[in-house]
Amino acid sequence: MTSTTTTKKPSTNLALCVTTDDFEAPAKEVLSEKSWVYVSSSASSGLSLKANLDDWSRINFRPRIMRSVSSINTNRAILGQTSQLPFFVSAMGTLGNAHPGAEPLLARGSTRKGLHMVVSTATSKPLEEIMDAHQEEQNILKNQSPSKLAFQLYVPVDRSKALSLIRRVKAAGYQSLWITVDTSVLGKRTADRYLQAQEALDQGAKERETAAENEFSPAFGGRPVPGYLDPGLSWEDLAWIKQEWSGPIVLKGIQTVEDVKIAVEYGVQGVLLSNHGGRQIHSAPSALMTLLEIRTYYPEALDKLEVFLDGGLRDGADVLKALCLGATAVGVGRPYFYAMAAYGMEGIEKCTDVLAEEVEITMKMLGVSSLDQLRPEMVNTTRLLNDMWRPEIVRPRL
Ligand SMILES: Cc1cc2nc3c(=O)[nH]c(=O)nc-3n(C[C@H](O)[C@H](O)[C@H](O)COP(=O)(O)O)c2cc1C
Repeated sequence: MTSTTTTKKPSTNLALCVTTDDFEAPAKEVLSEKSWVYVSSSASSGLSLKANLDDWSRINFRPRIMRSVSSINTNRAILGQTSQLPFFVSAMGTLGNAHPGAEPLLARGSTRKGLHMVVSTATSKPLEEIMDAHQEEQNILKNQSPSKLAFQLYVPVDRSKALSLIRRVKAAGYQSLWITVDTSVLGKRTADRYLQAQEALDQGAKERETAAENEFSPAFGGRPVPGYLDPGLSWEDLAWIKQEWSGPIVLKGIQTVEDVKIAVEYGVQGVLLSNHGGRQIHSAPSALMTLLEIRTYYPEALDKLEVFLDGGLRDGADVLKALCLGATAVGVGRPYFYAMAAYGMEGIEKCTDVLAEEVEITMKMLGVSSLDQLRPEMVNTTRLLNDMWRPEIVRPRL
């Protein structure tokens, strides 16, 4: 695949990146315009992305005091596998656009930091090479890292291709399968539409990518490969997928409590509440909003499967809000892309350290020494609840 990475160095010293937002400007500086548009773009007018970013700040903590927090434990089991921290790296395709090291580099960084990573179907490098990088890093660390790799599945239209992909994923040793279910069609990525139009006016893209290295990818750099995304995907497809894949299955991209209920009925192990980083449907609910729907209308789900969230998470403290409300862990996407694009491995590690420190200091100030002490009463969700969906009320007789 043609790489669109550059060898430019950012003008900002890594030491000055003290929040995850700080990676964005340096990444913009070094990325080609096309790669920048790919990572930063969102659907339509950006409302879904905005909701993701905003909703984290619409929940406040209710901290408890004097609870002896001299030592704390940030470990969290995700689908039965310990993670050093309660967040993971979300699936992102075409990471060759961020850095020549692409997915193997991010896998190595996650392994160093004891994080789980979800590897996209739409990788720049073969899925086996990514697993090898993870294993090599494990060897260096004498297998001390709890980190595991999961695989995000875009179900190919051609089911025989799907089967061969799932078999490769299994053979490579991926721990769980995260099936993306919000992509019947690719969202309207406005910034990319402008870029495509400009490219057409300029008579052809100079950086056009091909699917040469990944025959399963339904999109490259955010542009669909015709005939790959399957609008025919349905709940019934879970039957043959389960026959082929015996490990845990997570449905990625669930956005309503109704679909969580169906997911429970189909016996999957987890749901990832997500609107694809605001890149798919316009005016989507944030993952937090969907989590509140679950708590309100079907709280039993929280005991029946693991609930994950992603979208707009930029502060480790916010991870704890989701955990208070019953989530297992939260995924982080763009901050890792930006950090890796600008600073490579050092960026990946720093991004994790920033989030980890925020988790740790917030746990202490919240009065918890382990994550299982987090409770719904430790957050005030009133503002978000006011906006939550309610079934239409039957009108009184007048
Ligand atoms: C550059 C980029 C590529 C992505 N590629 C995929 C993908 O291949 N498969 C997928 O299921 N989700 C993909 N996503 C969505 C992420 O898995 C995740 O839902 C989202 O990035 C979370 O939001 P955040 O970036 O605000 O953290 C992608 C997101 C970005 C930003």
